[in-house]
Amino acid sequence: MAYDIIANEIGRPTLFKDEGKLFPDHVPTNLVHRDTQLKALGRVFRVIMESPGAVAQKATLVGDVGVGKTAVAKRFGSTMEALAKERGINLRYVHVNCYKDRTLFLVVKKVAQQILPSIPDRGFSAQELFQTLWRILEAENIYLLLALDEIDFLISVAGEKDAPLYYLSRVADEYLNRPQRLNLMLITRNLEFVSGLDRSVQSTLLHNVVRFDKYGVEQLYDIIRLRAYDAMKDGAVGEEVLSMIADISSPRGDARYALELLWRAGKYADEEGAMKVMPEHVRKAQLDVSQFPMHIVLDLPLHERLFLLSVAKVLKRSRAAYVTMGDVESTYRVLCESQGIEPRRHTQFWEYLQNLRNLGILYTKISGAGYRGKTTLIGLLNLSTEAVEKGLSKGD
Ligand SMILES: Nc1ncnc2c1ncn2[C@@H]1O[C@H](COP(=O)(O)OP(=O)(O)O)[C@@H](O)[C@H]1O
Ligand SMILES: [Mg+2]
Repeated sequence: MAYDIIANEIGRPTLFKDEGKLFPDHVPTNLVHRDTQLKALGRVFRVIMESPGAVAQKATLVGDVGVGKTAVAKRFGSTMEALAKERGINLRYVHVNCYKDRTLFLVVKKVAQQILPSIPDRGFSAQELFQTLWRILEAENIYLLLALDEIDFLISVAGEKDAPLYYLSRVADEYLNRPQRLNLMLITRNLEFVSGLDRSVQSTLLHNVVRFDKYGVEQLYDIIRLRAYDAMKDGAVGEEVLSMIADISSPRGDARYALELLWRAGKYADEEGAMKVMPEHVRKAQLDVSQFPMHIVLDLPLHERLFLLSVAKVLKRSRAAYVTMGDVESTYRVLCESQGIEPRRHTQFWEYLQNLRNLGILYTKISGAGYRGKTTLIGLLNLSTEAVEKGLSKGD
């Protein structure tokens, strides 16, 4: 019985040729509409090829969710590796997601493991590990292009004398008069947090800024058309469906959202045994994605995540429909403290609230009966408190 059910299911016809090509972590060879950004990066980092070791180059990639920052960085890095190789230069690209590796030690460890998997990492401080790594780079004449993705999540931990970005952008100073081996690509959703950093780090971050605008409807159309071509069988998705997905996604300008819609619509079509993806499949997919915009939640900058998590925690504890800013703020402070994060000022909260409201995650109303004076009440939309807690508490 089970055998038949499973065999039958696996043998069912599908509209997908290779669905992995639609997944968010797939890096397509062809990144349309990002020539400007690829060229800008080329201009900054060409010096690695021309006179390796002459300077340590740095660039900052800035733009909203789903605008191709990660994909462009990865494609650029692997292409640079290949071009360097042709010129007899040993350049290594390493991509670290700081959401996963949040401290200087974890970042350096990630890099060390990629360069030399057998490098011991126990019993070292971040700085000691970095020095060991540097010696290997010198001994093997390796140059590094290090991408730090989602740098907003990097935190300083007690006992480390330098903040991660400070250390990494200044470390070359210690090796003055020796070839420079560490080039940095820093990736962030916005530069808001820069103002809180050390002056020298600020100037590093702002020196070569490469901006990624939201995608327009035609750009989204081109992106999903190309990805559909790789991922789906011939004739599985028509032009009408592609434009529909591009239209729906264009207010966000987010390619990830568009690709998720396409993938889910394809799944609905398969479920029904349809010959091609129809507009109704897109509508169903859109409902799924909108009811549970978890990827949007997961992509929020650190302090907006903490703010949202605080709202959910207070709502859950009080079992009420709304919370007040005061309640959210005190929970937020406790959360920050427990995670060793410097809390943001009160004035910023209205900005976070505004943004979360624009994203359709929170809504507000002015208090009526039962409250003294007029207070803004905050409610959660489209998500349960459990979903928020589950999504955002992991990794804490
Ligand atoms: N120009 C593009 N062409 C093809 N796919 C793209 C393009 N830009 C983004 N994507 C895809 O959209 C998704 C989101 O892009 P990503 O680089 O993760 O965005 P970000 O890092 O800016 O949030 C990924 O699956 C990525 O491969
Ligand atoms: Mg990214």
